[in-house]
Amino acid sequence: MRDGRFITFEGIDGSGKSTQARLLHAALTARGVDAVLTREPGGAPGAEDIRRLLVEGDPDRWSPETEILLFTAARRDHLEKTIEPALVKGKTVVSDRFADSTRVYQGAARGELRELVDRLHEMAIGREPDMTLVIDMEPEEALRRGLARASGEDRFEDMGLDFQQRLREGFLTLAHDHPDRCRVIDGNRPEDAVAGDVLAAVLGSE
Ligand code: ADP
Ligand code: TYD
Repeated sequence: MRDGRFITFEGIDGSGKSTQARLLHAALTARGVDAVLTREPGGAPGAEDIRRLLVEGDPDRWSPETEILLFTAARRDHLEKTIEPALVKGKTVVSDRFADSTRVYQGAARGELRELVDRLHEMAIGREPDMTLVIDMEPEEALRRGLARASGEDRFEDMGLDFQQRLREGFLTLAHDHPDRCRVIDGNRPEDAVAGDVLAAVLGSE
């Protein structure tokens, strides 16, 4: 059997990734595609335990280096337990964030950490998505949306607007550097309009 497709959503906090991942999963399922919806950090029981260590508590709880190791450990578990088993069965995997988030977030926190991120990815993960949808948004509006959610998981969102602005640029640069797999979608529109572009991009690249 042919491996399934691995599709990821990326973007700043509150850009609508979770909403769009859910809508794409529903649209694919309605078309008879066997699809799995998952997320990072998390997506497998062990990785969800690591998620709690990452998203709750004081922003200074971990050093940036420790944070990269925790994200990579969570990702390895997610890959082994959820992503790869589904892909080998021919299922489509839709993930709300993956390795690009570590490249952009931890690289934006301290530029020189990007090399550590890349080396760890090569050694422990070694897999890229077939397609990445970057949901692009004004940080002001995204931050307002994200904080309105009040999920109790705001350790990263608490880092503020300047940081979100750097992240936005980071995602756009990454999309520019990987035009083979990345599509930038304007997220500053109603959900249905964004979802229409997402589905067209996914179906158009089959
Ligand atoms: P992310 O996963 O990128 O943080 P979410 O999908 O959780 O973003 O969306 C953040 C908030 O914004 C949620 O309350 C969601 O209902 C809302 N939202 C998502 N997409 C849109 C949109 N296109 N227009 C207005 N609000 C939206
Ligand atoms: P997520 O639950 O996707 O948050 P949101 O819905 O607000 O976008 O991710 C939690 C936080 O973890 C988010 O601020 C992004 C951050 N993060 C990283 O810093 N590095 C990573 O590798 C991943 C996957 C997430």
